[in-house]
Amino acid sequence: MTDGAERFLAATRRQPTDATPVWFMRQAGRSLPQYRALRERFSFLELATNSDLSVDVTCLPVEILGVDAAVVFADIMLPLQGMAVDFEIREEVGPVIAQPIRSERQVRELRVVEAEEATPYLFPTIRAARERLGRRAALVGFGAAPFTLACYLVEGQGSRDYPHVRALIHSEPQIWDRLMTTLTEVLSRYLIAQAEAGADVVQLFDSWVGVLDRATFVRHVAPYLQALIERLRPKLPVVYFSTASGHLLDALTATGPDGLSVDWRLPLGQAWELVGPQRFIQGNLDPALVLAPWPVLKSGAQEVLREAARRPGHIFNLGHGVLPDSNPDQLRRLVELVHEWGPSAGDSSISQGRLGQQAI
Ligand code: CP3
Repeated sequence: MTDGAERFLAATRRQPTDATPVWFMRQAGRSLPQYRALRERFSFLELATNSDLSVDVTCLPVEILGVDAAVVFADIMLPLQGMAVDFEIREEVGPVIAQPIRSERQVRELRVVEAEEATPYLFPTIRAARERLGRRAALVGFGAAPFTLACYLVEGQGSRDYPHVRALIHSEPQIWDRLMTTLTEVLSRYLIAQAEAGADVVQLFDSWVGVLDRATFVRHVAPYLQALIERLRPKLPVVYFSTASGHLLDALTATGPDGLSVDWRLPLGQAWELVGPQRFIQGNLDPALVLAPWPVLKSGAQEVLREAARRPGHIFNLGHGVLPDSNPDQLRRLVELVHEWGPSAGDSSISQGRLGQQAI
């Protein structure tokens, strides 16, 4: 049996691998008929809060697609259940907050509780998934980065460019600071508890950070992100995901994650120049290509692998989540293609592993 867990974890340490590890963001969602069948009987939140069902959904893509990592079946919005924030996940829309958070009073009323109290169902799911996966696949825990969770809280729902958030940062910097401080505390408890339950790495989803200009990011977002990453890194490797953020990539790297997940807007070679050789990179096939005929998908994937140039520390992924209309057969063939590409080189200067990496 393939030791997908070791293949994945070696790449996070930029050590040689027998093949490029591969998994897909949103691999456990609506593109899988088995998931859609479950969703006919249960709502998303019913599924996510039921550990037995969540473990099955978490492990499904490993069995069906042959990926080297499973991602815990959960959502970036779940920590809000402990913060006394009323929200729902609406079909076709996504998360909707009943009362967008924009005033000092609302921010003060946000509760900060232990992760086990906020999301008690999540940690049994992680423990059971870790055990079921064995060495077959690594387990990726995740949460939002503080900025992206703040986007939903302030805007009230997904938006093209989050104008209320950008206005609040500049017009009410104290409210913004208090909100980001609270979210950083909640997210570090949430993610540390995932590490302790058995997640092998955690991924911070900062899907919307690309709406910010660089100065705003550096001044009003980076310090919280850096503080969060500093609290997590002693426990496990941290991957930071963002999109449309080429203008921020070096500043994002400076906040200290072990690896960055990048989208398709920059070729991987160029992204690596900005990120530097000391981080692993995850990405970066355009998810739209999974909808294209196989020869188109195949040549797109080969281009990503050529750009990665067998550098140590490449984890193949899409540049954003699997689109719901994607055909799982295409994803399965993509996994095969990536694995057949062959071994990646290692970085001998860090072959002592993570400690060596930190010492550099
Ligand atoms: O592989 C997986 O699906 C793993 C679990 C996972 C979910 N959400 C489950 C989910 C992960 C990693 C996420 C991350 C997430 N959630 C992000 C960051 C990634 C990104 O896409 O940028 C964001 C922004 C969210 C917030 C969120 N939750 C949105 C925008 C939506 C609606 C999306 C949609 O496709 O309709 C959700 C709901 C959600 N989270 C679903 C799933 C499987 C769909 C719910 C359903 O079954 O209808």
